[in-house]
Amino acid sequence: MSARIIPVEPFDFVVFGGTGDLAQRKLLPALYHRLQDGQIPEGSRIIAASRDELDTPSYRSLVLSSIENSVPEDIRDTPLLERFLQLCHHVTVDAGSELGWDALGALLRGREDHVRAFYLAVAPRFFGPICEQVGRHQLVTPLSRVVIEKPMGRDLASSKLVNNAVGAVFNESQVFRIDHYLGKETVQNLMALRFANALFEPLWNAAHIDHVQITVAETLGVGGRGSYYETAGALRDMVQNHLLQLLCLVAMEPPESYSADSMRDEKLKVLKALRPIDADNAARLTVRGQYTGLNTANDRIPSYTEEAGLSRSRTETFVAIKAEVANWRWAGVPFYLRTGKRLPSRVSEIVVCFRPIPHNIFDQSSGRVQSNKLVIRLQPDEGVKQWVMIKDPGPGGMRLRHVPLDMSFAEAFGIRNPDAYERLLMDVVRGNQTLFMRRDEVEAAWRWIDPIQEAWEQDDTAPNAYTAGTWGPTRSVALIERDGRTWHEETV
Ligand code: BG6
Repeated sequence: MSARIIPVEPFDFVVFGGTGDLAQRKLLPALYHRLQDGQIPEGSRIIAASRDELDTPSYRSLVLSSIENSVPEDIRDTPLLERFLQLCHHVTVDAGSELGWDALGALLRGREDHVRAFYLAVAPRFFGPICEQVGRHQLVTPLSRVVIEKPMGRDLASSKLVNNAVGAVFNESQVFRIDHYLGKETVQNLMALRFANALFEPLWNAAHIDHVQITVAETLGVGGRGSYYETAGALRDMVQNHLLQLLCLVAMEPPESYSADSMRDEKLKVLKALRPIDADNAARLTVRGQYTGLNTANDRIPSYTEEAGLSRSRTETFVAIKAEVANWRWAGVPFYLRTGKRLPSRVSEIVVCFRPIPHNIFDQSSGRVQSNKLVIRLQPDEGVKQWVMIKDPGPGGMRLRHVPLDMSFAEAFGIRNPDAYERLLMDVVRGNQTLFMRRDEVEAAWRWIDPIQEAWEQDDTAPNAYTAGTWGPTRSVALIERDGRTWHEETV
C-alpha cells in the first residue's frame, strides 16, 4: 500500500539554529523525506539562520553530511539530494545584535504571499530576543508562523515569560508549540481508534476500565545532554509534556470535531481535572529514581552522575506517578505513568486495562480468566493489540488462553513509518495546529507539575537508586502492586 501525499504550497522555512543538533538530526532529514515523497513543491526554500560564518555553499556541505548521517543509503538518491541542497540557504544572523537581520529581510522580501515559518531550533533563552528582532525588522506577515519546542520554561512562571515574549510578536494562531509525541503515527491512531469506531466508546469509562498504564522507557542514558538534563529531570523533560499529552488523548471527551481548538479544549479539561499531587500525598503517589552504573563483563555502563560529570545530584532519571482524572468519566480509575532512562528496553505504550468479568462460568481446570487489555504501542513496532480470552484450539476440553489480536502497522501496511517531525513540519506549513499545544494547555500542565516538583524539593531524601538496565526502583513496582495490579507484562 502506498502513502497518499497532499503537496503543500511553496514556502520559506527559516530555521534559527539551522546548523545545530536539532536541525541536523531531525529537521533537515524530515524535510528531505517530504521532498522525496513529492510533498515539497518547486520554489520552496529552507533558510538556515545561525551565528556561524558560513556561506550557502558551505552550509550545503553541512546539509549533505546531515542527510548522509541520518538517511539510510538505500533510500538516498543523488539527483534528489542535489535538488534538496538547492533549496537550502544560509544567512549569518545574531539574535543579540544587528548582524544579519537586513540580509535575512532582503532574502525574504517579495515573498510575502508565501507561507513563512520561523523555527526556533535554539536554546529557549533566545526565543524572546529572536521574536523581538523578527518583529522589529517587520518580517512577520499574515502567513507567518513560529515554531517552538520544549523546554518552554521550567515551571509555570518561567513558561509564562516564554509565552509572553513569543506572544508579543505572534498571535496564538501563529504559534506552533511542538510536542513531537503528538506527531507519532500511533498517537494519531489512538484518535482513530477512539473516535472512528463505535466499539470502544461505550466502554471507555470507569464502569469498564480498571486502570490505564502509560510507559515511556528508554535504554539510553543522558549522554552528552547532562547539563540540560540536570536543570530538568524526567518530570520536566518527559512527564510535563509527552506523558501528559498521551494521558489527555486517552482521557479526553470526544471533541466536537478533529479541529485544533476542539481537540485542545478537550485536552485542557483533562489537565484541569487532574487531582493535585503535593507535599501531602507526593510520597504515596510518586516515585523518583536515578540510575547507578553497572560493570558488565567487558564494559561499564556509567551512572547518571558520571555521565553528567557531577559528584552528586538529586535529579531524577526515572519517575512513576499514580495520577487520577477527577471527573465523572474517570473518577477512581488510576492512571499509572512511568518513564525513565537506562531501562531494559526502549518501549512507549499505553495499556488500557478493562475490568474483570463479573462472573466466571468456567471451572478451575479451564485456567484463570484474565482481564481484557488494549495495548497501544507507539514504539518500537507500532501497532495495537487487543488482549482477549479464547479457547485453546483443539481437543483437551475448555482450556482458556489470553492472546493478543495483533495489528502491527509496519507489517499490515508495509510503508515506511514517517518520523514525527515530517508530519509536524508539514502541518506547520499547512497552518494546522491540531497536533500542537496551545498556551493554556502548556500552562495547565505546569500547574499540575509544579507542586510535585516543589514537594520533591522540600523532601530531604534523594531519588531512589536503580541499577542501569533495570525497570527503575523497586518502589515503582510497589506503587502499582499495593493496589493489586502489575505493570503490563510485555514491558516487564
Ligand atoms: C525528548 C526528551 O523530548 O524526548 C529526551 O528531551 C527523550 O530526553 C526524547 O530522550 C524521547 O523521544 P523518542 O521519540 O525517542 O521517544
